[in-house]
Amino acid sequence: MPRDATTDPDPRALPVQVPLVTEPLGLLGSLRVARENVLGLIPDLATRQPIVSGRTGKRWHMVMDPECNRRILRDNLENYPKSEVTKLILEPAIGDSLFIAEGEHWLWQRRAAAPVFSARNIRNLAPIMTAAAERAAARLAAHAARPGRAANLYDEMVAATFEVISDVTFSGDEGFDRLAVHRAIDNYIAETAKVSLLDILGAPRWVPRPGRLMSRRVLGEMKRMADGAIEARRKAGPRPVPDLLDLLLEGEDPKSARRMTTPELRDNLLTFIVAGHETTALTLAWSLYLLAFDARVQDRARAEAQAVLGGRAATAADAERLPFLRQVIDEALRLYPPAAFLSRTARGPDRLCGREVRAGDTVMLPIYALHRHHLLWRDPHAFDPGRFADRQAIDRYAFLPFGDGPRICIGAAFAMMEATIILATLVARFRFRPVPGRDPRPVLILTLRPEGGVWLTVEPAPAPPPDPPPAQRAA
Ligand code: HEM
Repeated sequence: MPRDATTDPDPRALPVQVPLVTEPLGLLGSLRVARENVLGLIPDLATRQPIVSGRTGKRWHMVMDPECNRRILRDNLENYPKSEVTKLILEPAIGDSLFIAEGEHWLWQRRAAAPVFSARNIRNLAPIMTAAAERAAARLAAHAARPGRAANLYDEMVAATFEVISDVTFSGDEGFDRLAVHRAIDNYIAETAKVSLLDILGAPRWVPRPGRLMSRRVLGEMKRMADGAIEARRKAGPRPVPDLLDLLLEGEDPKSARRMTTPELRDNLLTFIVAGHETTALTLAWSLYLLAFDARVQDRARAEAQAVLGGRAATAADAERLPFLRQVIDEALRLYPPAAFLSRTARGPDRLCGREVRAGDTVMLPIYALHRHHLLWRDPHAFDPGRFADRQAIDRYAFLPFGDGPRICIGAAFAMMEATIILATLVARFRFRPVPGRDPRPVLILTLRPEGGVWLTVEPAPAPPPDPPPAQRAA
């Protein structure tokens, strides 16, 4: 049968990717490339070899081998604290909170926060996700009413996930300007991301980072606002459906019975906002890009979502009845992992994949390259959600969108629930098509973003096929 160019993807076509470098770059070359896109620092070799090492100011190793990843993230965790770079960038904004703390100070915070993200609490918070999905659908319906007009689905998804994270962190109206906090965080990240390459390439701490100095004042204001909101909540008591602030206020380290002080609570809540909102928006935006890229996959995802949801928005109870949609999200996380680059600083000597690691070496896990590694994935650049149909067949340490080991993302189940609820609701109601010539470009700054946005045309979805007559159904 001839290919229908409007609906069938060209079997040779691949979704957008970044050409990886094939020549060594040197320090200046690296600086030039990294200023524009950190992904450009990853050599093509990293998708073919288990480890690639070099020296740009500092000795570094990029590790793409499941066994070695397990060693870094789990078996020899003590030797691989988060890198100086990660701390330099994030500490001014989120303090010594869960994301960057080490040792005992990390452990007690993790123990205190773990119950906050239990399956039961996520289910309790899910109606907030459903409400955000409904509002996103209402906004898209306005776009769909103007045929031919494209919408930037990245912006739409940032709006939706911001609603969720602000409703689940500071859900009250304690005179706290959530939008101002959002802006302060976004500005801080944009500023620091620009200068972060100084850190990535090992420039010493005393080299001034202009963006960081500039945003200190804004950060100070943001923290004062958050502290005020926390104090107000302490006085007012928990909300009828406890939000993350209530849960964290109640949170206690089961070992030491220690509870968080106001600055510790604030740093962790801001951490949840920083770590949880843009990453989930990216997951959704890249999933929608991929669904528009392959209309057949989109039709199948829609058929599943319509069968489960009918006309209503998705809820927590629907999540496990949408296995194909979950495969689409996993495949989006494989091709465009929001946290595309994890980095650690070796505390002492070690061996990784037979290579010598010395104290002070930077050890990177370029998740983007791991997920596109030729030894680990068949046809690695192709969009094929079916590869996740049998999860057992996938090596746990070859697929690391949320990291792994004790420092695995604490919000992974929360994020998957949110992404599933929003994506199912949207794909059941709308059809998304790419806008020729407006493909996004994957750019890694702190996260893997679609530069230029994800522009798609949005139309009302075709209605589901009518149920077959009873006689046919019995047959
Ligand atoms: C799709 C969305 C998300 C992705 C891809 C993602 C990815 C990650 C990754 C890769 C790590 C490990 C970093 C490392 O080992 O260096 C991490 C840690 C973390 N994430 Fe997420 N994340 C997501 C959503 C969330 C959400 C929704 C929250 C909270 C509401 C959250 C909070 C955290 C925290 C607190 C940590 C640090 C945990 C620790 O060190 O104990 N993340 N995330």
